[in-house]
Amino acid sequence: MTVKPRILATRLFPNAVMERLSKTYDIVGTPTLAALSSVDILALSKQADAIFCDSTSRFDDEMITNLPKTVKMITTFSVGYDHLDVAAATHRGILLGNTPDVLTDATADIALLCMLGAARMAHSSAETLRNGAWESWAPTQFLGVHMSGKKLGILGMGRIGQAVARRARGFDMEIHYHNRRPVTARGLEEATYHGTLEELLPHCDFLSINCPLSDSTHHLINDTSIAMLPDGAVLVNTARGPIVEDAALIKALKTGKIASAGLDVFENEPKLNPNYLPLPNLFVLPHIGSATFETRDAMGFKCLDNLDAFFAGKNIPNPITL
Ligand code: DGY
Repeated sequence: MTVKPRILATRLFPNAVMERLSKTYDIVGTPTLAALSSVDILALSKQADAIFCDSTSRFDDEMITNLPKTVKMITTFSVGYDHLDVAAATHRGILLGNTPDVLTDATADIALLCMLGAARMAHSSAETLRNGAWESWAPTQFLGVHMSGKKLGILGMGRIGQAVARRARGFDMEIHYHNRRPVTARGLEEATYHGTLEELLPHCDFLSINCPLSDSTHHLINDTSIAMLPDGAVLVNTARGPIVEDAALIKALKTGKIASAGLDVFENEPKLNPNYLPLPNLFVLPHIGSATFETRDAMGFKCLDNLDAFFAGKNIPNPITL
């Protein structure tokens, strides 16, 4: 009888993914909808050869150092990997894998939803309706701004940034972007590259944040960078919350420096800064960028492909490297 590799799933993943996982592997413990705590992960991982986690489980230097020697691989159900200390894992010889590509379209769709939601005051108008407070159609009520013909600045022109740009072209937006280097890709033929964030910001009627979170992007959007935006800009973040300093955005939403914001991510998830709550010009979602049935299955299957390749002694399809 062949011994199946043992996988610690830090929580329940979609049914089709759990089914395939259980066919090939022994699942350690009994995963539930809630993610395991770090203490439980450390305890259970003594029985595991690999860990299947998501972005809500933090594997920092200390956590990785404390993992038992049995753990040879971690695959994360996410494209972002700011929750994993890649240097510490590399040092420990633990292989890391993630799930790029399959969530590009779903996340770009949510970026457009956030742009429209913010630009067209979707939150305050829908809330008024649901509260039974809408009395009549009125010519000056719930006014927002057009996306058509406006300049969209994209911070981070990776796969998701490019997909946002292609969608925004459908709204006749003029695309500007900042990225480490210029990008040649379908739909970007007429996009304008800016070599620095400071050069990009004055061109952003809309700013869409699509870069990864790292030490260099943490609080990149703060009082100083917000001041460089045109008055009345619209800010959208579907990447990672801590790229934007919440206190600075809240201040700018209150003064109108930023007319409205659409956030799918924010600092300290899942706890939304309470100072956001009274703001009518905030459209906010609970990190649902990849939340479609198709995408979540595909993310899980990518994790399984990483595990399958690893335990077959092959190169994994989506490694995370330094
Ligand atoms: C990702 O894949 O990075 C999503 O934001 C979910 O964590």
